[in-house]
Amino acid sequence: MSSAELRKKFLDFFKKRGHKIAPSSSLIPDDPSVLLTTAGMQQFKKYYTEPSLAPAPNVASVQKCFRTSDIDEVGDESHLTFFEMLGNFSFGGYFKEKAIKYAKEFLESIGLKIDYVTVLNEKGDIEPDKESEEIWRRLGIKDIRKAGREDNFWGPTGAEGPCGPTTEIYINGVEIWNIVFNEYYKKPDGSFEKLKTPGVDTGMGLERLAMVSQGKKNIFETDLFAQYFELLPKELPEKIKRIIVDHSRAITFLINDGVRPLNKEAGYVLRRLIRRVMAIETTHNLKSHIFDSLLHDMAHSYGDFYPELLRKSNNIQDEIQKERAKFGKSLDKGIQEMKKDIQALDEKRAFDLYQTYGLPFEVIKDVVGGLRGSELNRNKFEEEIKKHQKISRAGVEKKFGGHGLLLDTGELKAKDEEELKKVIRLHTATHLLQAALRKVLGDGVKQAGSDITAERIRFDFTYDRKLTDEEIKKIEGLVNLAISKKYQVEMKEISYEEALKAGALHFFKEKYPENVKVYSVGDFRADPPEIFSRELCGGPHVKNTSEIGQFKILKQEAIGSGARRLRAIVMS
Ligand code: ALA
Repeated sequence: MSSAELRKKFLDFFKKRGHKIAPSSSLIPDDPSVLLTTAGMQQFKKYYTEPSLAPAPNVASVQKCFRTSDIDEVGDESHLTFFEMLGNFSFGGYFKEKAIKYAKEFLESIGLKIDYVTVLNEKGDIEPDKESEEIWRRLGIKDIRKAGREDNFWGPTGAEGPCGPTTEIYINGVEIWNIVFNEYYKKPDGSFEKLKTPGVDTGMGLERLAMVSQGKKNIFETDLFAQYFELLPKELPEKIKRIIVDHSRAITFLINDGVRPLNKEAGYVLRRLIRRVMAIETTHNLKSHIFDSLLHDMAHSYGDFYPELLRKSNNIQDEIQKERAKFGKSLDKGIQEMKKDIQALDEKRAFDLYQTYGLPFEVIKDVVGGLRGSELNRNKFEEEIKKHQKISRAGVEKKFGGHGLLLDTGELKAKDEEELKKVIRLHTATHLLQAALRKVLGDGVKQAGSDITAERIRFDFTYDRKLTDEEIKKIEGLVNLAISKKYQVEMKEISYEEALKAGALHFFKEKYPENVKVYSVGDFRADPPEIFSRELCGGPHVKNTSEIGQFKILKQEAIGSGARRLRAIVMS
């Protein structure tokens, strides 16, 4: 059965059984606990605790997913970065009995037979899932294996949230379908509470389903991938081919959803994928038009199910061209530099190469190759990054006797007391600007970078078109209104979880310290308090917005088709 048929059969099956079909959400999630959408349940997460908000009690979807955790595994038989997940969900509609029956029935309807299933066997703060075991047995499944919470417990994504036991279905030795019963809510302190209304969350990777349905040995031989391999030179090692095909597909979908190559967060994931493909081109002497035709063909064949890919196909190519122009030269230099002494290449040297030439870790690993390459350890490399960040943070506190900068946080720069006063005003104005942007353009606006000197604010954010003059006026007006209202600026040190709950804007980082600083701007004496802006931030800020003075946006620029840059000033 073709993958197109599998998607259709899946959605039809659940539609017939009273499910509303939900379109895939973006790879850029609403849920701040993850960098990119990693599962079908993400867009529905809130319905497990608030079923009354759900558009329907039962839904089904084909969801675009991305798992950064699998990047190092790509190239084997079954791991991918981007993949499509088929899922059915229920928020108080049905529970274990029906979910398990549906799964078995669907697989049988497409001619597949279950080898075995697994269920949770665990004691303590959570219970063994006897009920699922019993249901499977009644349905005639004999091989029921038991596992602990490492294998058969899902979630939560983030520090807290809905979670519960899973039962997994295996066919031809491959895990095909994960069925989650969200019975608990995990609290930030690690304890579990029973959910009022238990829910169902299931996920089945389309690529693996296609593999067993089409009788293939690995996912890359299915119709989702096979045609792209034909575009690659035969002599290229299989693993390299798989990386190129996986990454090209992921790049296509990430750019399509508005991610742009940047140095942090999702933007950095995309940058790494593009740079890795570029490095492979260089080291294997591939012509760049091969990659271009891969992207072209992918946009067209996936365009049948995701029509937006067809509309944005040129856009995707443009973004990649820009990254090529940016990275091309330093890639060549970096590779030459690296090759000078491959034997001595350790994680520290890898970090230097990354700092100087922008070579991502996996590129370095690929180029070094062989045993030496496989020995390079990602954790050690990340330790080097952390060490470096610590050193630059320590630098912030230092005063360099008149020669260097008085303050340099990476975002704020001031060389003397006078400049310091000015950048602090501009810094608070930046928070107001971000809040105003979101109020006028919507919550899709995300900060992509900012740089503040004594002269001006430079603020980058994700947005896919030019702002109209009217919008600029409105944004500027809102910031000036917040200034004229003489709002207080309040700083609180709270836990990262509390900060997220309070809706503080933030950059995603792998790891936040336990306690973070949250700056809020508003009228806290009003009843209810009026909050204009709330962000995780290291400071410093003014105490009252009246200190900022008049705010003015000078100009806007495009920086890549999915991001804009504003320059603004404040005047006393
Ligand atoms: N959320 C579950 C998973 O992604 C279904 O495996």
